[in-house]
Amino acid sequence: SIKGFIFDLDGVLTDTAEYHYRAWKRLADELGIPFTREENEALRGIPRRESLLLLLKGRTFPEATLNELMERKNSYYLEYIREISPRDVLPGARELLSEIRAAGLKAALGSASKNAREVIERLGIAGLLDAVADGYSVTRQKPAPDLFLHAAALLGLAPAECVVVEDAAAGVEAALAGGFTVIGIGPHERVGKAHVVLPNLAGARLADLLARLPMHA
Ligand code: G6P
Ligand code: MG
Repeated sequence: SIKGFIFDLDGVLTDTAEYHYRAWKRLADELGIPFTREENEALRGIPRRESLLLLLKGRTFPEATLNELMERKNSYYLEYIREISPRDVLPGARELLSEIRAAGLKAALGSASKNAREVIERLGIAGLLDAVADGYSVTRQKPAPDLFLHAAALLGLAPAECVVVEDAAAGVEAALAGGFTVIGIGPHERVGKAHVVLPNLAGARLADLLARLPMHA
């Protein structure tokens, strides 16, 4: 039976996807590289370094330059997330976290971001999470299952006992590979492989979600 939830952060609990986009866009403009919102969609859930390589579209730079570009993007991102406050928790997310706690279930964060701790502190939801797995936790990133397996281990639960909530195709893939039940947030084209697909968490009540999950042995 389900004993815990593992939440992705960006695009699930808050819309930092927009800030990641603005930071990458600013860097791309400085480099004279075209970069659209549509292209940014492909970067959801993708770690910083792989995102940069995708943005560069085959342009090569020495390692030191790549590091400088990643640092520059992150400094823009940090500038944007300074604005984040408890109002930026997406509709339904705080309520769901509270319900999970009240029901005696566990909740963890499973985010590829190295800025995840700062973001959950600013959102004021760190206290509703029993464990945090972030961009520092594992080497192999999504779509490898490692980050979610790490989060489940921190909760002391098996994958079959956990539901992963994800908005990225790479994240859904990672969770399925790890043997988790998956709730996909967003359009079918992006998260259609998840067991349950929702447009967002607005109005998502714990009992309804649990009732919609496939039965586990
Ligand atoms: C999440 C976001 C990605 C981001 C990645 C790394 O997965 O969806 O857009 O690239 O985290 O974030 P970071 O804050 O470490 O650059
Ligand atoms: Mg995400």
